[in-house]
Amino acid sequence: MQKISILYDDEKQIFHISNNKISYIMELKENTLLHRYWGHTLQYYTGCNCTEPVKRTFAASYNQQNPLFSLEIEPQEFSCPHQGDYREPSISVRQQNGCTIGRMKYQYYEITDTLHIPEGLPHIREMKQKAAKTLAIHFLDMVSNIKLILYYSIVEDSAVIIRSAQIINQGNQSVWIDRAFSTLIDTNYQKQQLITFYGTHQKEFRINRQEIQHGIFSIGSTRGASSPQYPPFAAICMPETTEHSGEVYAFQLIYSGNHCVSVERNQYNHLRVAMGINPEDFCWKLLPNESFQTPQAILIYSNMGLNGMSQEFHKLYTERLFPTQWAKQKRPILLNSWEMCYFDVSEQKMIDVIKQAAKIGFELVVLDDGWFGHRNNSKSSLGDWTVNTEKFPNGLTTLLKCAEENGIQFGIWFEPEMISPNSILMKSHSDWYMQMDGYTPLLSRNQLVLDLTQKEVQNYIIETLSNFIKQYPISYIKWDMNRHITDPNSLYLSQDSKGEFFHRYMLGLYHILQELTTQFPNILFENCSSGGGRFDAGMGFFMPQTWCSDNTDALDRQAIQYGASYLFPLSAITAHISAVPNHQTGRNVPFATRAAVASSANMGYELNILELSSEEKELIMTHLSEYKKEREFLFYGEFYRLCSPFTDGNCAWMIIDQEKTRAIIYYFIREYDVSALSYILKIPYVDCQKNYVEKNTNRYFTGEELIYAGIAINTIKGDFPVIILELNEKK
Ligand code: GLA
Repeated sequence: MQKISILYDDEKQIFHISNNKISYIMELKENTLLHRYWGHTLQYYTGCNCTEPVKRTFAASYNQQNPLFSLEIEPQEFSCPHQGDYREPSISVRQQNGCTIGRMKYQYYEITDTLHIPEGLPHIREMKQKAAKTLAIHFLDMVSNIKLILYYSIVEDSAVIIRSAQIINQGNQSVWIDRAFSTLIDTNYQKQQLITFYGTHQKEFRINRQEIQHGIFSIGSTRGASSPQYPPFAAICMPETTEHSGEVYAFQLIYSGNHCVSVERNQYNHLRVAMGINPEDFCWKLLPNESFQTPQAILIYSNMGLNGMSQEFHKLYTERLFPTQWAKQKRPILLNSWEMCYFDVSEQKMIDVIKQAAKIGFELVVLDDGWFGHRNNSKSSLGDWTVNTEKFPNGLTTLLKCAEENGIQFGIWFEPEMISPNSILMKSHSDWYMQMDGYTPLLSRNQLVLDLTQKEVQNYIIETLSNFIKQYPISYIKWDMNRHITDPNSLYLSQDSKGEFFHRYMLGLYHILQELTTQFPNILFENCSSGGGRFDAGMGFFMPQTWCSDNTDALDRQAIQYGASYLFPLSAITAHISAVPNHQTGRNVPFATRAAVASSANMGYELNILELSSEEKELIMTHLSEYKKEREFLFYGEFYRLCSPFTDGNCAWMIIDQEKTRAIIYYFIREYDVSALSYILKIPYVDCQKNYVEKNTNRYFTGEELIYAGIAINTIKGDFPVIILELNEKK
């Protein structure tokens, strides 16, 4: 069998996209495209799951010879309004006469041996060693001459379909796109449940699992960022699906701006899932000969539960999304100045920090906010990216020299998309920020947002940062975005293009990031938006790691990292050990637990290392040297969730090597329960043919026992303890 294949059966008019993990099947009927199957690989498809057409009163039909065929009933792959399908459409284009385009008819298809790369947008990358194929299916509305192309890409050895759509104006008049979703799928409802995330600042990635009722349920963002409120992800699973078993159909958008996921169960119990740019605040004017390309949607299938889904996301993103040079690169252990100094940074303090950090064993010191303009609080200087010479009389030169002498790297914080009203930049460019004629723009965290739709503004950011990097050869940049968008308007967008603003902002941002990350491939960029406010696959294309929450409390972090791990591998999720009582929650979580939570992600520190007792220093030094020995294993191992802090009370996860010879299990106990004797933890991811010894207790287990009987975890007194089990294969 071929590693990947896309076949078209001319007689049956069936497209069959498949690899060793999945099949995705569609049928052409009445010149429309119907969804037939998505799931485990099928060698052959006979149409067994197609229901007989039934007469539905009121159903409108394209073809009077075939009146039972109606788009109201058929399972589709895209849908336009006003064609008898009253569910939510995925594509809606208005003509100059005010009518929406009405009849998208199949024209032809093309198959290529490459991935479809959407221009100007982050995307899944080609890999030289591994095969990929794309099916492009073309449709045309003959009246308006508007063309629609649906792209379906498949890659080797991954349970993924990558979908996107393109709308091309082949007519001679402008049209307006009111809606351009990246994907839509119709299937029968079979009691599936829906999983999405909700959250907020300091409380990201809460998992929401619910029954799917009749009607439309949707999540999305109109904030100008993918948002911690509702990141662009949804999964459909069966009621019996767990972390470890059962079917999951997952959707994620490679996009960082306004998005929408809509899930609809209609009167016939059909289920529609659609995802794309949020149609709210979106309207794109398409001139003749122009085309509009949607972001890519990732569709993952797993029949091994939610952990199976995550394995697919982790592998796909590591191999084909993150910047190639960083994906598998060891990340430096960093010490960040934020919770240590907040805005109170200075040359002398940072010199002391660098020297001490190097002695303790850190590899990178990051100077966070407060180093530029005259910034002593959040009220000033965004946009004025020159070093504050009162705090740093020698610019950053002395610090960089000191870092070099101490054998440690140096990085810095920027918030390039923002501008403070009292900045010098504002005085010289009062037309560079978002503003709506006649209205005073709203401040949030005392700042305004630059209008990235303007080429000049994009160039300003690119030049400012590249000149800075050329002057100061730093190794790391934390790219922050600390507010959401209000007053979404550019003074330079014409009246009938105002609805393009939000998407043009994203295209501007992606252009800036593309330029900077290409110019400086050796700089490690860390994504941040008040923590995980824009933690999405779009940003992941440029930046391999994300500060996933401003909440560093190790108890809260368990839930946040648990949720984030649905989509992102540990290398992408940064986690810092911070001081106790914790600055966000006042909680005192023991060091061992803080270390375990951070070490099972991309680990760093964020506390005052200049005021450590000798015991604390010793503790951190020991932790760093142990972590250095383990980090390859922790980074490249497979990560599995075992107990959910959302539904099981306690939280547990594990990291295991691919050969299943070694595993580290972290079991976090939330609170001591006087009546609980012990907890039983089943470990389905060890090898049932192998035997294991637990390192600390020397206890011996068979793999089979660990999988089916589970291991007893004895309770421990005290708050928030962690139990760490290390299993090594016994030959
Ligand atoms: C955001 C980030 C923090 C820190 C501050 C600085 O809140 O998430 O880590 O960088 O900005 O202002």
